Amino acid sequence: MTAPEVPGTGTPDADLPGMVLGVSGGIAAYKACEVLRRFTESGHRVRVVPTEAALNFVGAATFEALSGQPVRTGVFTNVPEVAHVRLGQRADLVVVAPATADLMARLAHGRADDLLTATLLTARCPVLLAPAMHTEMWEHPATRDNVALLRSRGVVVLEPASGRLTGVDTGPGRLPEPSEIVALARLLLERPDALPRDLTGRRVVVSAGGTREPLDPVRFLGNRSSGRQGYAVAQVAAQRGAEVTLVAANTADLTAPAAVRVVRTGSAEQLRLAMLDESKDADVVVMAAAVADFRPVALAEHKIKKGADGPPVVHLTTNPDILAELVGLRPDGQLVVGFAAETGDETGGVLDHARVKLVRKGCDLLLANAVGDGKAFEQPDNGGWLLGSDGTEVELPHGSKALLASRLWDEVAARLG
Ligand code: CTP
Repeated sequence: MTAPEVPGTGTPDADLPGMVLGVSGGIAAYKACEVLRRFTESGHRVRVVPTEAALNFVGAATFEALSGQPVRTGVFTNVPEVAHVRLGQRADLVVVAPATADLMARLAHGRADDLLTATLLTARCPVLLAPAMHTEMWEHPATRDNVALLRSRGVVVLEPASGRLTGVDTGPGRLPEPSEIVALARLLLERPDALPRDLTGRRVVVSAGGTREPLDPVRFLGNRSSGRQGYAVAQVAAQRGAEVTLVAANTADLTAPAAVRVVRTGSAEQLRLAMLDESKDADVVVMAAAVADFRPVALAEHKIKKGADGPPVVHLTTNPDILAELVGLRPDGQLVVGFAAETGDETGGVLDHARVKLVRKGCDLLLANAVGDGKAFEQPDNGGWLLGSDGTEVELPHGSKALLASRLWDEVAARLG
């Protein structure tokens, strides 16, 4: 079933750059609506190109209403507009979500038997495929070969998530969450070469979030770290091919990135134990978590009550410096990366403090952010400097947290050789 042609609406607005959202025929096609909504709400003009099979799952009217653009599947409608080449030629980015095994097979072999494959064949912009299929299909040698071939040609084929599939099945092959697809699409628009597969075969451990130091059964000392930057570091590493473990402290609001193993922790001591355990055979360890420097000496067994003597006095003790400990235990060849959230003060700016911290911590790389004054914490964007123990200092331009993560992995990959 092809969407009916509406005269005069056959081509995208010629002058405006735009995005193409391809949708192929799997049950995850319904999630393409959420991807589309997020793209349009963030100001993108999106042309949806489903396959015929996709329209068995979501009707053309839904995509037309959400995108405000006509939707068709074939190359024999609106022929004078040469839509089968124009869409690909003019796109800034083509995202296919979900990308089925069949769609990837057709693309790998250069087929152009519908509007989506013709568009993919003419696109010269970055192409991002978000696969979704049953585990057996994802792991089949034919699919593995097609994915490898597409990646070797520069197509970004995301690692799928692991989890519930259609029916009772679970395993790798689940569509990455719409928020993740959109974040990685934004990354490719910011930087088309942000997701090479240069961490393939590497094992990476990343900490993220902010620790909470319990005071009594209902209270804790915490900090404002949301965990988003650490999540982006883990997400980008996984999509660059690494096997990633994310040690997360208090990040229940965040969606676990696709193809990342998450170990949940709460306090600094729990995070410390998890990091010591996970980092033993890692190639790279990244301490992006905001670890509380202090914790209450004692954890009250019962809720602390207001007393007649006024507020209670809380005695604090210093938490161990996990980063310094990891540096001390680092096996040969392991790279350790620290983060520094700095505000600058009367004794020096953000960079001055970061240089001192790099030496004090002894790590190989230190990513310094300016925080406070509405910067970094709980914000989608970030910027800063990356300092190396070899004396290098790279300024990281302001952009998405995924962009910052991709710059960090460039430096790490160069050092891993
Ligand atoms: N860090 C850690 N263990 C701690 C404190 C910090 O592993 N107890 C790590 C953080 O994960 C980060 C780096 O050390 O990678 C720097 O954290 P930051 O809070 O900026 O530094 P501090 O050592 O706490 O120094 P200061 O508070 O004096 O700035």
